[in-house]
Amino acid sequence: MKRVAVLKLGGELIENDLRLKAMGRAIASAARKGRVVVVHGGGREIDAALAQVGIPKRQVDGLRVTDAETLNIVVSVLAGSINTKLVAAINAAGGKAVGLTGADAGVAPVEKAAPHKATNGETVDLGMVGTPLKATSPDVIETLCKAGYVPVIACVGASKNGKLFNVNADTLAGSLAARLKAKRLVIAGATPGVLDKKNQTIEKLDRERIEKLVKSGTANAGMVAKLAACQAALKGGAKNVAIVDGRAPGRLVKAVAGEKTAATTKVVN
Ligand SMILES: Nc1ncnc2c1ncn2[C@@H]1O[C@H](COP(=O)(O)OP(=O)(O)OP(=O)(O)O)[C@@H](O)[C@H]1O
Ligand SMILES: [Mg+2]
Repeated sequence: MKRVAVLKLGGELIENDLRLKAMGRAIASAARKGRVVVVHGGGREIDAALAQVGIPKRQVDGLRVTDAETLNIVVSVLAGSINTKLVAAINAAGGKAVGLTGADAGVAPVEKAAPHKATNGETVDLGMVGTPLKATSPDVIETLCKAGYVPVIACVGASKNGKLFNVNADTLAGSLAARLKAKRLVIAGATPGVLDKKNQTIEKLDRERIEKLVKSGTANAGMVAKLAACQAALKGGAKNVAIVDGRAPGRLVKAVAGEKTAATTKVVN
């Protein structure tokens, strides 16, 4: 099929009505120029929902340690509230968005993640966190894209016996970009790309520099998961991979179309 651009939106970019509206417009506009598959996170809204019911939050290298109670909140916030609102915002802007989760046919088959070897040396059982399997390209996404729809995917995965798992949104986007052999993976967040220790945007990152950034702690928390996802996407056959500032919608539309933009970190092999 015609190659797609996979766009990952960090939860911060869609956490209130104003931002949802802006992102809805940006995605509808990007989708007029070419095929787009959207994956979104929802970290801060999940944190807020957990706090409301008094469940403590625990994250390691940006990965959420997920017990059964946490999983229920993750699924209801991500696949319920955020996904539906984003789909509605894109459609209100004239797009043709369809909401999915990784539990939909073949979208994100996962298995329980192996204990995580953290950057601080600890080994941590992440609980109900899923690792995407190296499955074939998801049929339903190809079908939707071909028909002009924009699949919008909440980062929940399912195992082969039907159990749900929490999957980091960057991890899922990286895996999908690989399986779809995407022409581009654009990971949009609320920072001006990847920052060095002087808080300047790094223009280009290769494997060696990524290793140094993570080892030195200059890249930490959610950024660790993002960089791993970028490398997985490249390894799996995605063509271009970038981490961009998603707060300026116009710039985001350009990034999805493959045009050069400021505040962007290109990740290469
Ligand atoms: N070197 C770095 N450059 C930029 N951001 C960094 C760096 N190191 C760590 N970070 C942190 O990574 C965060 C982004 O990851 P985080 O998981 O919090 O958000 P997200 O992935 O965009 O959203 P979501 O988890 O909702 O999908 C930034 O807000 C920043 O605090
Ligand atoms: Mg994250």
